[in-house]
Amino acid sequence: MKEADRPKIKDILDAGEIGKDYQLKGWVRTKRGNNKIAFVAINDGSTIHNMQVVLDVPNFDEEMVNQITTGASVAVTGTLVESMGKGQTIEIQAKEVEVYGPADPETYPLQKKGHSMEFLREIAHLRPRTNTFSAILRIRHHLSYAIHKYYNDNGFFYMHTPIITGSDAEGAGEMFRVSTLDPVSPPLTKAKEVDFQKDFFGKETNLTVSGQLEGELGALALSKIYTFGPTFRAENSNTPRHLAEFWMIEPEMAFYEIEDNMDLAEDSLKHHVGYILDNCLSDLEFLQKMYDKELLDRLNFVLEHDFKRIVYTEAVEILEKSGQKFEFPVGWGKDLQSEHERYLVEKHFKKPVIITDYPRDIKAFYMKQNDDGNTVRALDVLFPRIGEIIGGSQREENYDKLSQRIEELKIPTKDLWWYLETRKFGTAPHSGFGLGFERLVLFITGMSNIRDVIPFPRTPKNAEF
Ligand code: 4AD
Ligand code: MG
Repeated sequence: MKEADRPKIKDILDAGEIGKDYQLKGWVRTKRGNNKIAFVAINDGSTIHNMQVVLDVPNFDEEMVNQITTGASVAVTGTLVESMGKGQTIEIQAKEVEVYGPADPETYPLQKKGHSMEFLREIAHLRPRTNTFSAILRIRHHLSYAIHKYYNDNGFFYMHTPIITGSDAEGAGEMFRVSTLDPVSPPLTKAKEVDFQKDFFGKETNLTVSGQLEGELGALALSKIYTFGPTFRAENSNTPRHLAEFWMIEPEMAFYEIEDNMDLAEDSLKHHVGYILDNCLSDLEFLQKMYDKELLDRLNFVLEHDFKRIVYTEAVEILEKSGQKFEFPVGWGKDLQSEHERYLVEKHFKKPVIITDYPRDIKAFYMKQNDDGNTVRALDVLFPRIGEIIGGSQREENYDKLSQRIEELKIPTKDLWWYLETRKFGTAPHSGFGLGFERLVLFITGMSNIRDVIPFPRTPKNAEF
């Protein structure tokens, strides 16, 4: 049999035939038994479940059997039989066993179960071998697929926006510079500033914080596009919800107004959560059992309820009247902090909330200005346990209003001339948003730290792997 055709443990558990021979390849999770019989649990990552392999020890080479320890990689050929033992209904009665790679029990870091999340972060090269991380990696995969499928099925085109950019989409200035200049003695201008004209691109460039601005260019030609790529933020945020490198999904739609944008945000989130409930139930059940007893209830709750839609001014009134003691002050014009967002979602409305029409001074330059002169058509979606999961807006399509705002905020127009030109030639109402992929994975898996839902987290002072 070709290796590519060999059934994986998931296939055998789902549809294996009793009495038939199978070959398993994978990693040993546990071994128990004595010098007559050994029970070895093998996992190949295809499912959270292990396959139990039974060895009549005297039939095998003793040295080889001793090498079957937690973490070792093995190939086993044997017959699928009904299991007498508790905990599984079928098992493999081994005929041949080969150890590809032993794992010394004295030094293998995952010899024992029950390590702390903090310790597992230090061994990010091995943590995919744990039940928890393999479940999370599978869920990340299925969620990525679900997202592409959703947008494809709804007439969106996947657009690849650049990773290296010359503009700051969010205007927040929290970017990682991309440069090939000598950091010790860079070329200087007459004014003794770094001469970026001599840099690789002949100008200052950075890793993108968002694909939105280029996404808008696509939407104003293809009507509906989305991006799904890595984004980078050099903000010094050491919180359980921030990464310096995270993935974002950014749909952008010509002719959509803020209400259409809200409908898409709500419908797509429900679709993504529903897809994982339908396709990853055994992983979700594992995570519920181990970490979060309310996980499945919370996911189903999101599917079954309309999101509450309110404007920022109303949100501030509710917070002011709440009688709650918050760490950060509440007041019209101040940004909502995570504690405020979670109060609205978890205590007040007890369901996901969409807030729109924020003060223009706390939002990005590109958001459509309302006629009241002090709010913009911003949209944030807030989720239980997470706070903000989506941020977006209707975009300012009016050339004069947009260029005036850019001027007010002293954003150099030399970096944005191309963006402004779309408002000169065939401008149209349009909207979009950004969904933080890891924030959604955090919500779906019930984990409590965003560093535990991405294979190799990038955070301040941490880029080991
Ligand atoms: O609200 P943000 O900054 O919005 C934008 O970047 C817009 N350009 C999106 C758009 O309209 N196309 O970020 C969008 C989402 C947030 O709601 C959050 O879920 C996630 O990205 N996010 C982060 N996730 C992890 N770590 C960080 N440091 C994040 N910053 C934002
Ligand atoms: Mg935001």
